[in-house]
Amino acid sequence: MPAISVIYGKIIYVMSTVAELKAELKLLNAEYAKIKDVPAEKRADFGKQLNHKKQAIMQKIADAEAAAENDSVEALDITAPCDINGKQPEFLTADFGSKHPLMSEFDRVIAIYQSMGFDIMESRQLDDEFHMFDSLNFAKGHPARDGYDTFRTEEGFIPPAHTSTMQHRVLKAYKYKLDEGKAIAVAVPGRVYRNEDVDTTHEHTFYQCEGVYVSETCTLGNMLGILREFFEKYYGQKLNIKTQPGYFPFTEPSLEFLIEKPKALGGKGGDWLEMLGCGMIHPNVLKMAGIDPVKYQGFAWGGGIDRLVMLRYGLTDVRYFESAKLDFLKEFTC
Ligand code: DAH
Repeated sequence: MPAISVIYGKIIYVMSTVAELKAELKLLNAEYAKIKDVPAEKRADFGKQLNHKKQAIMQKIADAEAAAENDSVEALDITAPCDINGKQPEFLTADFGSKHPLMSEFDRVIAIYQSMGFDIMESRQLDDEFHMFDSLNFAKGHPARDGYDTFRTEEGFIPPAHTSTMQHRVLKAYKYKLDEGKAIAVAVPGRVYRNEDVDTTHEHTFYQCEGVYVSETCTLGNMLGILREFFEKYYGQKLNIKTQPGYFPFTEPSLEFLIEKPKALGGKGGDWLEMLGCGMIHPNVLKMAGIDPVKYQGFAWGGGIDRLVMLRYGLTDVRYFESAKLDFLKEFTC
């Protein structure tokens, strides 16, 4: 006897099969109206064929409905050992689902950065101490490490607390661009994890996007231009922006980047929202990746995608994203 989820999947499957067959039947019924236009000598044959088809469809509908009724749900034996080599559950085909709203927005974010000439590198879901802290100029035992209270596996791996864990890899992988006289311009979207007390604005699992730019001549002004462009494209309108001082061991100077909540999105004027952290890449971070910090300079930024999406759609509780609440998800299906 299949598990409940399989039966449920099957029922949905049968329901849509029946719906498709009924639609077919409706089309066929319309064909009957054409009998009068068929030449008299062929009329009988034409009618017979239609009847034949109609019977076949009706039989299929009856069979499908009977098959759905025959499945009764048997209680699962949760004490039974898992047979890993046994038959795996049948999942619904992808046509029954739709993209999670966060994933659609994730794609939108990627598309904007691509349109601005950025390469894309997705971040990892499991990383290590070196990429999480050391390569980002966090001194051993420095209290700044506490700001990134994340999880660890028994083997010592770290589900990354931010997409900045990818900075070192990006710098090393794209260093060749500098040798070719070009700039490094890479955006890194990814899923991140934090040991948070979960509430309306904090989740243990969320999404971020990092940006890394390095060239011989780039300035903080260029970074602000890029960020303004990104946010204006994402929200489809002109925005007021400002920065305030921040602290990150991997940037010097470090800034927080804010936008004024637009009126169209419920802003009353003067509501400043912190969207991300950013700054000029610390010379030690460049050096560790083998890039000469005297010749080259860069800037980087990183911010939450969930927060971006919440503002766009006026959502007030970040927990909905991970909640699998169908009522919520259905509002985003098209
Ligand atoms: N990774 C930081 C965080 O999650 C945000 C950040 C700050 C990213 C400064 C950067 C940066 O790339 O330069 O809090």
